[in-house]
Amino acid sequence: MCGIVGYIGDRDVYPILIGGLKRLEYRGYDSSGIAILNNGKPVVYKVKGKISDLENFIGTKSKEGTIGIGHTRWATHGEPNDVNAHPHTSMNGKFIIVHNGIIENYATLKQRLIKRGYTFKSETDTEVLANLIEYIYLFGKTSATEAVRFALNKVQGAYGIGVICTDETDKLIVARKSSPLVVGVGDKEFFIGSDATPFIEYTNNVIYLDNDNMAVLTKGEVSIKTIKNDAIEPNIQTVDFDFDEIEKGGFDHFMLKEIFEQPKSISDTIRGRVDYSRNSIVLGGLMPVMSKIMNARRIIIVGCGTSWHAGLFGEYLFEEYSRIPVEVEYASEFRYRDPVINSDDVVIAISQSGETADTLAAIKLAKEKGATVLGICNVVGSSISRETDAGVYTHAGPEIGVASTKAFTAQVMVLAMMALFVGKAKYNIKPEKYSELIDELIHVPQQIETMLKDTSVIEKVADIYKDSPNFIYLGRGCYYPIALEGALKLKEISYIHAIGYPAAEMKHGPIALIDEKMPVVVIGANKRGYDKIVNNVQEVKARHGIVISIVREGDTEIAKMSDYVIEVPNFTTAIGALITVIPLQLLSYYIAVKRGCNVDQPRNLAKSVTVE
Ligand code: M6R
Repeated sequence: MCGIVGYIGDRDVYPILIGGLKRLEYRGYDSSGIAILNNGKPVVYKVKGKISDLENFIGTKSKEGTIGIGHTRWATHGEPNDVNAHPHTSMNGKFIIVHNGIIENYATLKQRLIKRGYTFKSETDTEVLANLIEYIYLFGKTSATEAVRFALNKVQGAYGIGVICTDETDKLIVARKSSPLVVGVGDKEFFIGSDATPFIEYTNNVIYLDNDNMAVLTKGEVSIKTIKNDAIEPNIQTVDFDFDEIEKGGFDHFMLKEIFEQPKSISDTIRGRVDYSRNSIVLGGLMPVMSKIMNARRIIIVGCGTSWHAGLFGEYLFEEYSRIPVEVEYASEFRYRDPVINSDDVVIAISQSGETADTLAAIKLAKEKGATVLGICNVVGSSISRETDAGVYTHAGPEIGVASTKAFTAQVMVLAMMALFVGKAKYNIKPEKYSELIDELIHVPQQIETMLKDTSVIEKVADIYKDSPNFIYLGRGCYYPIALEGALKLKEISYIHAIGYPAAEMKHGPIALIDEKMPVVVIGANKRGYDKIVNNVQEVKARHGIVISIVREGDTEIAKMSDYVIEVPNFTTAIGALITVIPLQLLSYYIAVKRGCNVDQPRNLAKSVTVE
């Protein structure tokens, strides 16, 4: 939610800011802005809309300078407009700041500042922070750094900030709490970003700032302290990055590229972890907590959105193969009740970004209650990967499209590997079954590759039903989370209302919705319980619903009752069942494109949800 970029050094800052914002646009795209110091004098440009609107607005206006900050916004406080866009300048013009996160006590702070004569132009919490810093600076007669530090001790909430002081123009001050902030380290120059993508072509040496830490960057030096003023030794790490991964590579949209990347991304997820010759799985990241997992009384999986769906799929795999009871919860619900958690519970937090605020809060709660907390994350070095006791990276590569696709399949593959790893260690899987499961697991990329060769039926269905106002998705067993995921994909990028339902539950209410205009997508690839799903299809057809079925190749029963049939290659276990999500990802993609929607940046959404 919101992207921050910044630079201090000897280079021309404008292309770094604009280029960086374009890379971060996936984090928020309702308004954007930059501030540049030109010989100590600030220029600030900000507009409603995309980075391209900002570029057009700046045009030939002055933009020289070698120090600057930029921001792309996903609105929280105040609607997206030019005034609420960042950067925000304090009332007397001493501080300019960009901010990602939410200052929860902003209303109280604002009232106090108003009583002291401050006025506000925007509705944002960020302007309150800018004015608070300035107030402390002017009336406390402190340095800019101290003013920022004191102010941060007064705020509650989450922040990743970049701050410029117009009196102390040789420095860039940054800080973070529960919102990501990465410092790129160059030769006598520093970059800042919400992640490393905005500056990766300049340097791959990075410092991941920890919670409650601030850094003061000058042209030659970085100094890091906690907001309580304790010095911290900078820990410079090197990130590996493949540039092609953040470009569209000939595809029309990142989402389509990411769907087609899945054979490769899944291979990357399992590479080095599945030892084909020894028929075994090695998950090094879990070794430190292996005895905790083996003796776990219960596994609780937490996540949001698509990651929660991956958790639901994982529940089937874990219970079947490891025989440990599993509960799956929305992180946002888990954190706000008083869940019973014991020290012999293992909590698995799933997150693509590793920055989702609700998931981070659930992790904190589970740790406080003494559980062992594992993470399944895609973004290396993200907050969740650092807050958990142990974990497994998905290695799906950067996911830029807001709709999660390759991250979902990678998350399920990690859960499958974990379930098999634990199941084998607990002697719950017979050796022949284990070999069969490993074989299926390693063939998933190939199965998906086969499916992606011909998408013509899916495109045809998309064309016919693109104007339908509603869709229902039905599935049983592990296909129920797939149905939920299909419905979520459709609604988030095409704005068509869609519900996912366990097929047998349909008769308890949703069946009332079915008539000759209702498309019902049935995932009918079950082997176990096939007759039951056949019955559900019959129930839909008896009410003249339109059945679009996802079935195994060669299926006859469901196929003959369906209006449209999308076949997937045959598979034998629940791990192979994951491939049924691919046609649903493609169906929502083609429908959204045919409706003229912005597939990669759907309205009201952002890739990384760092607000509660
Ligand atoms: O980064 P996370 O996996 O924690 O994000 C969780 C959800 O916000 C995310 O999966 C969201 O539902 C996707 N946009 C769905 O495609």
